[in-house]
Amino acid sequence: MRKKIVAGNWKMNKTFKEAEDLLFGIADALISGRPEDVEVVVCPPALYLELATDVATEHDFSCGAQNLSEHEAGAYTGEISAAMIRSTGAEYVILGHSERRIYFGEHDQLIGKKIQQALRHELIPIYCCGEVLEEREAGRHFQVVEKQLSEALSGLDAGAFSKVVIAYEPVWAIGTGRTASPEQAQEMHAFIRKVLASRFGEPAADDTTILYGGSCNAANARELFANPDVDGGLIGGASLKAEDFVKIVNSF
Ligand code: 13P
Repeated sequence: MRKKIVAGNWKMNKTFKEAEDLLFGIADALISGRPEDVEVVVCPPALYLELATDVATEHDFSCGAQNLSEHEAGAYTGEISAAMIRSTGAEYVILGHSERRIYFGEHDQLIGKKIQQALRHELIPIYCCGEVLEEREAGRHFQVVEKQLSEALSGLDAGAFSKVVIAYEPVWAIGTGRTASPEQAQEMHAFIRKVLASRFGEPAADDTTILYGGSCNAANARELFANPDVDGGLIGGASLKAEDFVKIVNSF
């Protein structure tokens, strides 16, 4: 049985005190009720990971980073390694986010190296894929996502792939308030599962958690999560308010 996950990507938001308040806010809201079979993952800026994992351990949620270096260690000023992230107690790392692709020039080959680096250090990669608006309008969205999957995951065998979580995040839906319809999400998630089955076999594809991301919020999460191939969400803006985020967790 594949895992259901609701993950919050805080992106570059919150000062230390605000991060502390949000973490305790999430912890408090989770105490009031949550589905037992949904894993909650909070991905704050790396600076707050140790604080976050302390709160998370006490309150039964998990933490993740938003990026890592493809290098092991050494003279890479400003970078953060997989080993450092893992040593904070974090278990996940978001990789291949469209903001990393667009603003930092990350491409599938580099992201593939980062995925392997994460797995080497027992971090679970949340690999993000998704098309931009022009690609969807040109009817190329399936082709684009298939290429992103095949290039970034090319170095993995089925065993290594079994640790990976996929997030479908159509770029046109991120931070725009324009969510993919439940039908569009289901159609793409089913397609992704088919691509994964052809590459890693049907059992591996069946066991893969595929999250939806892009303007997912407390008002639309239930409809999105009701789809058979949507196993949860990767939440941006709505993960910055404890109450909204936990409402989304409770949308299954
Ligand atoms: P929004 O939920 O703010 O659209 O962001 C989605 C996202 O990019 C999560 O990684």
